[in-house]
Amino acid sequence: MEAYAIWNNKGGTGKSTIAFHIASRFAEKNPNRKVLIIDLCPQANASMLLLGGGLTGESNLLSLCSKPTPQSVVGYISECILNRTTPTLSNYYIQVSSLNDQMPENLYLLCGDGNLELMAPAINDEASRTPFPGLSDPWKWVHEIFVRLRSGLEDDQWTIFFDTNPSFAIYTELAICGATRLLVPVNADDSSRVAVKALFALIHGTVPPHPFFGNYTFASKIALREMPPPKVHLAIGNRFTQFKGAAAAYAAFSEATAEQLYTEYKSDSDRFSSRKKPPTNQKQFISKYVGELRDFNTAGVVAAHHGTPLSKMRQNYYPVHNDPDVKVNKSQIVAGLQAIDSVVADIDP
Ligand SMILES: Nc1ncnc2c1ncn2[C@@H]1O[C@H](COP(=O)(O)OP(=O)(O)OP(=O)(O)O)[C@@H](O)[C@H]1O
Ligand SMILES: [Mg+2]
Repeated sequence: MEAYAIWNNKGGTGKSTIAFHIASRFAEKNPNRKVLIIDLCPQANASMLLLGGGLTGESNLLSLCSKPTPQSVVGYISECILNRTTPTLSNYYIQVSSLNDQMPENLYLLCGDGNLELMAPAINDEASRTPFPGLSDPWKWVHEIFVRLRSGLEDDQWTIFFDTNPSFAIYTELAICGATRLLVPVNADDSSRVAVKALFALIHGTVPPHPFFGNYTFASKIALREMPPPKVHLAIGNRFTQFKGAAAAYAAFSEATAEQLYTEYKSDSDRFSSRKKPPTNQKQFISKYVGELRDFNTAGVVAAHHGTPLSKMRQNYYPVHNDPDVKVNKSQIVAGLQAIDSVVADIDP
């Protein structure tokens, strides 16, 4: 079973938007599988989109999170820590179509929750507590909460997607530990190239390690415990087509980010998911490890606002807040869906 963390520790690269479009389309294309989205970002943006978008998504989210036992990541992690157990997942996830009938029936959500930020110090305390008989490594036990969730699911039936927060907080660490693979949204700018370097440093550490902080890092802690980090499966160039007038400049930026990735690949290809035929030059590397999502334009904005997958959008006028008549063109829907499908085709069950 693969579990994909959609992660980049640079904010606003499109993680939640991609989680929404890719997971829902993957579920549509794989009707015999169950697809679980675990929203480990306290902003819960992906959850809001999946739960109907706009005010509907927000109100559905609030009702799940404000139950006496929150039906969310906060409820799930709380039970783990309070009872030192692996909770029954079905007590916490929801079938997305029960609240948003535009969504396929095989899509499930362990909902995001703003209180995840408030409970983060408690998760940290639990991870750093003194070992005692019966719990010899609290750090590992806490960081494997979602590894245990995964091993409780039937291997051949489920595929998991984590949405993450850009900060490298404890809840992001839990997502990284729970994932087998990474999908890394990048934009065509210099900060994306730098963020790619940071991503490898956070998971694999630096050479040489920092003389003082080196022993405190997440990278050194997972290495010490031989916990396998997720492998980079695909970098997703998001919105590369946004600035039409400056296409050449943006192509250069995306090339620079791809070059950075290829440098990492050449230094240790084991940090990437394997391909039948490994690439031997940068061009081949890009074709195998870099996907591209165009700017979704009005169709994408309206789809997200209504919590509707692009496959269910039709050429029409849609209401968006105070504007009752936002026009969505068929050509935009088709182009957006083609881009999503080409990325989904690269995602293994
Ligand atoms: N391909 C796209 N086409 C059009 N708009 C997009 C696209 N991808 C992202 N956006 C828009 O860019 C903004 C940021 O996207 P999103 O919230 O998905 O980023 P994020 O990486 O999840 O952010 P954060 O780091 O805060 O969690 C949103 O307004 C979203 O609608
Ligand atoms: Mg987000």
